[in-house]
Amino acid sequence: MTLPIEKKLFLRAFNGKTFPRPPFWLMRQAGRYLPEYREIRRKAKNFLEFCHTPELAVEATMQPLWRYAMDAAILFSDILVIPDALGQKVEFREGEGPILKPLRSIADIENLKAGGMIEHLAPVFETIRILSGEIPDETTLIGFAGAPWTVAVYMVEGQSGTDCREIKTWAYKEPDEFNKLIGLLVESTTTYLIEQVNNGVEAVQLFDSWAGVLGESQFRRWVISPTAEIVGRFKAACPDIPIIGFPRNAGALYEDYVEKTGVDAISLDSIVPLDWARETLQSRCTVQGNLDNQALLAGGKTLETETNRILKMLSGGPFVFNLGHGVLQWTPPEHVAQLAELIRNWND
Ligand code: CP3
Repeated sequence: MTLPIEKKLFLRAFNGKTFPRPPFWLMRQAGRYLPEYREIRRKAKNFLEFCHTPELAVEATMQPLWRYAMDAAILFSDILVIPDALGQKVEFREGEGPILKPLRSIADIENLKAGGMIEHLAPVFETIRILSGEIPDETTLIGFAGAPWTVAVYMVEGQSGTDCREIKTWAYKEPDEFNKLIGLLVESTTTYLIEQVNNGVEAVQLFDSWAGVLGESQFRRWVISPTAEIVGRFKAACPDIPIIGFPRNAGALYEDYVEKTGVDAISLDSIVPLDWARETLQSRCTVQGNLDNQALLAGGKTLETETNRILKMLSGGPFVFNLGHGVLQWTPPEHVAQLAELIRNWND
């Protein structure tokens, strides 16, 4: 049962209202900084199996809500379930992050199997159905996917922490060939997000964590244009579901991203100047962000000052409080409690 929108603080931020305080949730609010997450993580033999066991994924989604009662829950999964569902070999190694068998030729792209994707992701949809019945009435369930560029970075580089040399060279030298991969990801991401909505998510976020490695022309081609296509198709199928874009480190290109993609909200990294965001972006759509995750790690007075600065600047318009990137694994859980308290007590 969905409540009237007014009951859900998070959804109010998409109706131009942010009262009596802005809603909040945190990217990576579930995860290793929580001892109870580390405990259940041991029950699965690997991370993908953990994501695809509904009982465990539901619990991981709920854990931060039980402690901090965020205004939104984000489905516990990963952006790399898409390459896995397309038949690419994906592994998460302890302490190393994801390792994929890298795509390096048009034949590698053609070998991907788009056919069984939705069936492969059935456990994710079951997780969403269970969560829809379990989360509190005033909480919004957010679904997500990686944006094509960022997912392609992992698919082509094969691991994180590279300088994106392989993928950028491919995109510059053989744009039509590379576009086959982006086109496939536009298709599968759109289908995946719509299927998440059909199963019960009430908003979605597109993570483009590696958007900031591109030059201007390439950003327009591989970030803005595929995202605009996904948003257009998603909106045609799900006109009432907010879609949040997060082109991390986009700098001044955040403006064109908002203008040209049609997202309902823009999630900002921590370096974005707040007065600029208020003037240029918040007049066009809801803004989300942008506390430095290192300020959350530091806690205390730093956390208070930084949080109040953001609340003061952005609470006057449509706004969702969040971080500029995910919660770091070393973050003391008490600091998240302190942040939740600061936001809950905010009235200005
Ligand atoms: O609480 C939530 O935000 C929901 C779950 C979630 C995860 N990953 C769980 C996860 C979400 C939304 C993501 C998104 C994601 N995954 C992104 C985009 C956001 C960002 O951080 O930039 C990216 C780039 C990935 C890919 C990925 N997954 C990497 C690079 C890693 C390794 C780094 C790390 O932190 O370990 C992962 C693994 C991962 N995804 C973990 C979690 C909780 C840790 C794995 C574990 O528990 O063993």
